[in-house]
Amino acid sequence: MALQKVCLISELEPGEVRRIDSPPIAVFNVEGALLAISDICTHAEASLSEGQVDGQTVECPLHGACFDLRTGEALTPPATEPVQTFAVVLQDDNVYVQVDESR
Ligand code: FES
Repeated sequence: MALQKVCLISELEPGEVRRIDSPPIAVFNVEGALLAISDICTHAEASLSEGQVDGQTVECPLHGACFDLRTGEALTPPATEPVQTFAVVLQDDNVYVQVDESR
């Protein structure tokens, strides 16, 4: 496991999202809780960080599948496979995600 820096804690206010490219991961601030999922929809190639957040879910901007930000579960079609979730670590004013480099 390795820590990948996302941004400063101050750059991720409630209601905001930050994305890293490699691997593509989106970190959402949902009312103070930082939740990280794979940024790529499991239905096709769309960036979930560009989706609409509603409560604990995000809606894919391309075809509207909804994913649970806590579990990655695909809640509505057309997506059926969950997105991967990642642990978020706060350290020295920075937000990190825990990435398994062996994948
Ligand atoms: S690409 Fe996300 S629902 Fe189709």
